[in-house]
Amino acid sequence: MPNVTPASPLRDWLAEPTAGQVLRGLLASQGQSEEALAPALGLPLEQLVKMSGGKFPPELVDVLVTAAETGQIPDGLPTAAPAPSPTGAAVPAPEPDLGVEIGAPEPWTEQVTPGRFGGRSVVVTGAASGIGKAVASRIVREGGRVIAVDISADGLAALAADLGDELVPVTADITAPASADAVLAAAGGRVDALANVAGVMDDDAAVHEVDDTTWERVMRINVDGPMRLMRAVVPGMLAAGGGRIVNVVSEAALRGSAAGAAYTTSKHALVGLTMSSAYQYAGTGVQINAVAPGAVATGIPMPAAAPYGSSRTAKMRVAIPRLAMADELAASITFLLSRDAVNINGAILPSDGGWSAA
Ligand SMILES: NC(=O)c1ccc[n+]([C@@H]2O[C@H](COP(=O)([O-])OP(=O)(O)OC[C@H]3O[C@@H](n4cnc5c(N)ncnc54)[C@H](O)[C@@H]3O)[C@@H](O)[C@H]2O)c1
Repeated sequence: MPNVTPASPLRDWLAEPTAGQVLRGLLASQGQSEEALAPALGLPLEQLVKMSGGKFPPELVDVLVTAAETGQIPDGLPTAAPAPSPTGAAVPAPEPDLGVEIGAPEPWTEQVTPGRFGGRSVVVTGAASGIGKAVASRIVREGGRVIAVDISADGLAALAADLGDELVPVTADITAPASADAVLAAAGGRVDALANVAGVMDDDAAVHEVDDTTWERVMRINVDGPMRLMRAVVPGMLAAGGGRIVNVVSEAALRGSAAGAAYTTSKHALVGLTMSSAYQYAGTGVQINAVAPGAVATGIPMPAAAPYGSSRTAKMRVAIPRLAMADELAASITFLLSRDAVNINGAILPSDGGWSAA
């Protein structure tokens, strides 16, 4: 029996003599290197397949299990050389010896706090997928009512089937001016908290490569949409004497090397909107913060990479300490949406495993 299963981390699969060769060959055939996958090494193989957006089909898991079981490489698959030695160029240099014993990191499990959102109505955008879905799910399971907004009707229907009546789906494009009215109507006029999670990536283009269509789309979805929803909910929050808003930004809001010009600009703009609003409403009970995720295992669509800009961003992605799961981000975001964020206003919270500390 092989010592790897679909739930084993990528690191173990790459170390498996036969399956590792197949996996490296598949990566190389897609122009990817093992090095670029460094942040994902702790991710289960089955999760990588789920978030690959079809690049790795579900059948790949069976193919790799068979390769590991039989020691045979199935016909027709690209293969790569066996794993290079630890001093080879294709693997990162070994970590320096800390001089103290290091145990395996303790696995994290979500701790649901019953009633934390009891009696509260929370608008969550981007709720059909990834981080937004994890936030919506956590809030409903903690007693809240979620007005779940997304452009994907199918994704929302699946979530509503899962979470029941406390999830109110609103299929809307957050860039459409009328969508804020639809959200307020679905909320019955009362919104205690808003999580602006919906967002899109760019193609890593540097400014000389940016096309107007990408620039305008990224700004509309990542900046205009959150602003319109904030503008819609703030008056009600002020009248009610309080509210919480969390804008999901990105590592690209904290540095210039994490994405292309359009995405980086959009997330810096959302930080500006967060801080301006935190200042303007300080003392009213309306508190506005942001969470900056590092790399997160979701299916966020990655447009085809712009040649120059992506060659620059790829260099720094090897420094990402780890890939987080969506429910880990939901833990950070729901904290800032909760009453426990009582004294926090205008904070930009990195939730990135320490990437921004580098
Ligand atoms: N995944 C990451 O590594 C990562 C890293 C940093 C920041 N982020 C940010 O986190 C947020 C969520 O990302 P994710 O990875 O969960 O992405 P995702 O693609 O899994 O989910 C985003 C959701 O937003 C919805 N959406 C997109 N455009 C919309 C529109 N115009 N109107 C309504 N809904 C729309 C999509 O349908 C999708 O369901 C984004 O703002 C993203 O920029 C993600």
